[in-house]
Amino acid sequence: MILAIETSCDDSAVALLDMQGNVLTSQISSQTELHEKYGGIVPELASRKHLTTLPLLIRYVLGEFDIRLQDLQAVAVTYAPGLIGSLLVGVSYAKSLAWLAGVPLIPVDHLEGHLLAPFLDHKDLRFPYMGLIASGGHTHLVIANGLNDYKLIGKTIDDAAGEAYDKVAKMLGFQYPGGPIIEKLAGECEKPTIEFPIPLKGKKTLNFSFSGLKTAVRNKAIEGDLYVEKKELISYDDFAKWPESDKKDRVRDIAASFQQVVVKIIVQRFEKALKQYPMKDIVLTGGVASNTGIREGLQALAQKRQKRFFFPDSKNCTDNAAMIGYTALQYFGDRRFIREDHLRMNASSKSPIGQLVVST
Ligand code: KG4
Ligand code: ZN
Repeated sequence: MILAIETSCDDSAVALLDMQGNVLTSQISSQTELHEKYGGIVPELASRKHLTTLPLLIRYVLGEFDIRLQDLQAVAVTYAPGLIGSLLVGVSYAKSLAWLAGVPLIPVDHLEGHLLAPFLDHKDLRFPYMGLIASGGHTHLVIANGLNDYKLIGKTIDDAAGEAYDKVAKMLGFQYPGGPIIEKLAGECEKPTIEFPIPLKGKKTLNFSFSGLKTAVRNKAIEGDLYVEKKELISYDDFAKWPESDKKDRVRDIAASFQQVVVKIIVQRFEKALKQYPMKDIVLTGGVASNTGIREGLQALAQKRQKRFFFPDSKNCTDNAAMIGYTALQYFGDRRFIREDHLRMNASSKSPIGQLVVST
């Protein structure tokens, strides 16, 4: 049995997996309520919250299956990348647990966790594949050749995809996280009418850019008197209660037109990258991979190019500890990856995967 801990950002997550990688339980304690009114994550509040939530969540998970420390064969923890205060809470707790249980502590890169997350739900996925990690902090296009063998071929030069969703939502007056709200609003607009520019159009790069698009959305919102500055941010349910009006439709139109461009950006990047790296399988993972519009866009591309397309179940797209436990298990027992002294292990705000050289 392996216990996995994930506290890299705003959610405390704990999972238990058997040594074959089957998930017995995967629990998440969300901090959304704490941060939503700020329109983004407040790092200091996040780490303080982990400090009180994580021990309770671990006690709950161990209690649920009547697991004692001596039943554990390993402890896994996200050590990078993320908010350093949040990571330190998880790492400190994991060190103590592993030491008490007398079992190995396996440090896991959060990005590698996302990249391998589709294996949790798709036993037929195989290396090598082309994967896009699209989350609130990262937009990394990676060739995954095998465990610990990744090549970063493109990344965002400014905002991450999820960050763009969150910022667009905030400027329209919506709470954090904005991704699921924008997706719902977009689904309520039959035909988006605004032509936002496609960033990096015509450029040779496999990189991504979202900040120009964000500015174009802001200008459109200001022009239509929909831009919200420093007001109380609202939820989707609050919006749903508004009486139907032209204003309501224009908010939906902006959301749908924005999402249409995001889908185009992602599909076009995959299409271009596949010409250079003709992989059989493509993967979309990270929080943004929950988005149905983006999934449909990539599904269509996969069909057109005769590729297989994989994405995790929605519960495994956003931050979770099951993907951390699964990744740790791939390293467990492999002598190539044994680290000498786990008690010396440290947290890091940067990921080695994020530091790989972009080759184009
Ligand atoms: O992977 P994740 O849970 O955390 C990070 O590692 O960042 O991703 C969170 C991000 C947020 O920016 C959130 O707005 C976005 O994923 N997100 C979505 C959707 N669900 C979550 N973006 C677009 N559509 C969604 N349905
Ligand atoms: Zn993440």
